[in-house]
Amino acid sequence: MVELRLPKNSRVTKGKEYKLRNGSKDKKSFVIYRYDPEKKDNPRTDTYEVDLKDCGPMVLDALITIKNNIDPTLTFRRSCREGVCGSCSMNIDGTNTLACTKYIKDITKDVKIYPLPHMPVIKDLVPDLSNVYRQYDSIEPWLKKKNVKELSRENIQLPEDRKELDGLYECIMCFCCSTSCPSYWWNGDKYLGPAILLQAWRWIADTRDEATNERLDSLEDPFKLYRCHTIMNCTKTCPKGLNPAKAISNIKQKILAKR
Ligand code: SF4
Ligand code: SF4
Ligand code: FES
Repeated sequence: MVELRLPKNSRVTKGKEYKLRNGSKDKKSFVIYRYDPEKKDNPRTDTYEVDLKDCGPMVLDALITIKNNIDPTLTFRRSCREGVCGSCSMNIDGTNTLACTKYIKDITKDVKIYPLPHMPVIKDLVPDLSNVYRQYDSIEPWLKKKNVKELSRENIQLPEDRKELDGLYECIMCFCCSTSCPSYWWNGDKYLGPAILLQAWRWIADTRDEATNERLDSLEDPFKLYRCHTIMNCTKTCPKGLNPAKAISNIKQKILAKR
């Protein structure tokens, strides 16, 4: 049998333990991935005991409590703390989700927290999103009109046309879906992945947009679109309840209909 060996400093080691010393019975352990690429050390997991009486109900509240009261070096992104900015996406208890909408009480054992999978890590729980944002730019996510003068006035839409954007405009670009997609893990440099393809469909589905054919032509590519094998991890994991797999299937059907 072939034995695969990972590079020496890719192994995640056991790090420090921060014990609670106030004797509280209402405590919870948070096991958190730590990595600083500027240091030569391996990534590690540090364990923090948090007194739940001093902490809000969400996993993000615990992260903020740890940063404010236990270890100021812990690094993570967050902004809105109500599920609308997409900053605090991470892997919690084995699932990609938003730390600000995930209840601590819903996790029975220790809370294990890692960055979004298969992304380069800038530090601790902060992934490098440069590639996905380059891919987002590549789909030209803005309204296109043949007559550019029409862009300087309001472009109204019938209510039934506007309805076509339901389930698309709510996407907060958290990338929980793309980072749960095996096809994106292995071909993320060329495959656009579910988050970006849902955004691409958002503009194709917009009846005000006049670049549908160009958009479809640019997506008709064995890697950009057709690496999706309908595994559905993306739809299962979306914390906003959206269906990127359906958006991808809509793009494929529209390309077929155009041929
Ligand atoms: S349905 Fe497609 S995009 Fe979604 S997880 Fe599966 S392969 Fe990835
Ligand atoms: S489709 Fe859902 S999981 Fe994917 S980026 Fe949008 S909100 Fe996040
Ligand atoms: S902090 Fe904005 S989505 Fe969680």
